[in-house]
Amino acid sequence: MAKLKVGVLISGRGSNMAALIEAAKASDYPAEIVCVLSNVASAPGLQMAAKAGIATEVVSHRDFADRESFDRTVSATLEKHGVEFVVLAGFMRILSAWFPQHWAGRLINIHPSLLPAFKGLHVQRQALDAGVRLSGCTVHLVTGELDGGPIVAQAAVPVLRGDTEEALSARILRQEHRLYPLVVRWFGERRVTVSGGKVEVTGVPPDATLLFSPDP
Ligand code: GAR
Repeated sequence: MAKLKVGVLISGRGSNMAALIEAAKASDYPAEIVCVLSNVASAPGLQMAAKAGIATEVVSHRDFADRESFDRTVSATLEKHGVEFVVLAGFMRILSAWFPQHWAGRLINIHPSLLPAFKGLHVQRQALDAGVRLSGCTVHLVTGELDGGPIVAQAAVPVLRGDTEEALSARILRQEHRLYPLVVRWFGERRVTVSGGKVEVTGVPPDATLLFSPDP
């Protein structure tokens, strides 16, 4: 089966993108990163991608009058590189309705909470303020709803007494780096289906879509 051609959208650091690039180096990985696109020209992740020999693109939202025309240009740019599947990895722009419709079933996001809890920004602060004992990250298909859409997989981490936002973020991020490459692998292997808003990943153990942090 041909490798799934993946485009990664970032706005900043790009550590999830780096985890995907690393995973895709394995010859048996069923996806290849063909383009990394950022809406921010100074995003550090762009340089990392270029160093890894991956095509990079910048499409600044500031150059567009409305969200949809930005989204259409992003989409056309990805398609120019042959992208078949789009991965949002710290892409901090709200999409217009057009984008998830155009990429329906071929667009995923990672979010640093156990959705549907704690949507939007300052997610780890929200978790600490709520006093939850468990948090984590979620990979979901993207629909028109902000941080909504069918859940593909989650990784759970403990929230420890005395945690700061930084400590909790770092603990979650370590799990993001495990979870995202795993999920992209499943899409590459064409294992993921959606029915009635629920995701099925065929041919993996039933508990494969829930990871637990091995470290406190
Ligand atoms: C990650 O923690 C990701 O889950 C979060 O931004 C960070 C990006 O880090 N995304 C969101 O909050 C989306 N709602 P990275 O640039 O190092 O991958």
